[in-house]
Amino acid sequence: MQSDDNAVTIIGLGSMGAALAQAFLRAGHRTTVWNRTPQRAEPLLRAGAAYEPDVKNAVTASRLVIACLTNFEVTHQALIPAAEALAGRTLVTLNSGTPAGARQIAAWCAEQGANYLGGAVKNTPAAIGRPDTLLYYCGDRTVFEQHRSTLQILGGDTQYLGRDVDLAALYELAVGGTLLPALLGFFQGVVLITSRGLSAQSMVPHTVKWLEMISNELPRLAEEIDTGDYENPRSSLALFYEGIEHDEAIGREGKIDVSWNVPIHDLLRRAVAEGRQNQSISALTELLRLR
Ligand SMILES: NC(=O)c1ccc[n+]([C@@H]2O[C@H](COP(=O)([O-])OP(=O)(O)OC[C@H]3O[C@@H](n4cnc5c(N)ncnc54)[C@H](OP(=O)(O)O)[C@@H]3O)[C@@H](O)[C@H]2O)c1
Repeated sequence: MQSDDNAVTIIGLGSMGAALAQAFLRAGHRTTVWNRTPQRAEPLLRAGAAYEPDVKNAVTASRLVIACLTNFEVTHQALIPAAEALAGRTLVTLNSGTPAGARQIAAWCAEQGANYLGGAVKNTPAAIGRPDTLLYYCGDRTVFEQHRSTLQILGGDTQYLGRDVDLAALYELAVGGTLLPALLGFFQGVVLITSRGLSAQSMVPHTVKWLEMISNELPRLAEEIDTGDYENPRSSLALFYEGIEHDEAIGREGKIDVSWNVPIHDLLRRAVAEGRQNQSISALTELLRLR
């Protein structure tokens, strides 16, 4: 099978992979798809995609191959039968995973004579193709520039992070770390509100404003961390330390299990014990670094 410049192959048709393929089909790209479970390709076939049951043929169909499977290990295993076909092509991975996993698959691509770009989608499948959807990539800049306009179909906010092949995985893990604690904070608040017969929805506009405030504070906190100067805080550690009893009061008031707060409170207590009470809350990063 021959490939043309416009052709794209999508390996993996889960929620995200299917959305990627749909975006390329909408943009008029010749789109070949492969998935372990062939039935998942059916809606894409109706939209004009070609399904290749053999992963090697799927890879051969396009110069640009985008894999969106569960993680790097699964991606590697799925592509082993297509190893030879990868030579001279570009593999882009858009799965979550560890920086080590990204380095391993990049090294394997190099052994096959393939170009490699690591990537990450920082949004949901429904947001694929929107002008403000963020995806970021890493690896050889020339290879990225060669495919930039095609990759931009997936999201208008397409960014290049740098040459190191694990940067997308690194930033994905680093940025993603905010998600679970932020959601748990929201869920704890919702349990308190609903214990009074109020709806969870009633909290949403206030929480959105609160998250905006936190977003606005991030550049200043990052500057404190980058310079190592924690001495002119807008929000001191003491302020958060005094808030410990409020968190505990929330538990009593709403009959809520607030035990997930305990390690956070321990961190605040350790910081105060180190004499950091007048430093910025950003000084907690110093306690997170294993010494
Ligand atoms: N969904 C999101 O909101 C979202 C957002 C950002 C990033 N991501 C990332 O995108 C990646 C894919 O997510 P998704 O939501 O599309 O996941 P998903 O719906 O669970 O799909 C997983 C895909 O991996 C395939 N797969 C799993 N194990 C396999 C194996 N051993 N061999 C071959 N194929 C295998 C599945 O094939 P079968 O169909 O045959 O099972 C399917 O194509 C993940 O790394 C995820 O973290 C997802």
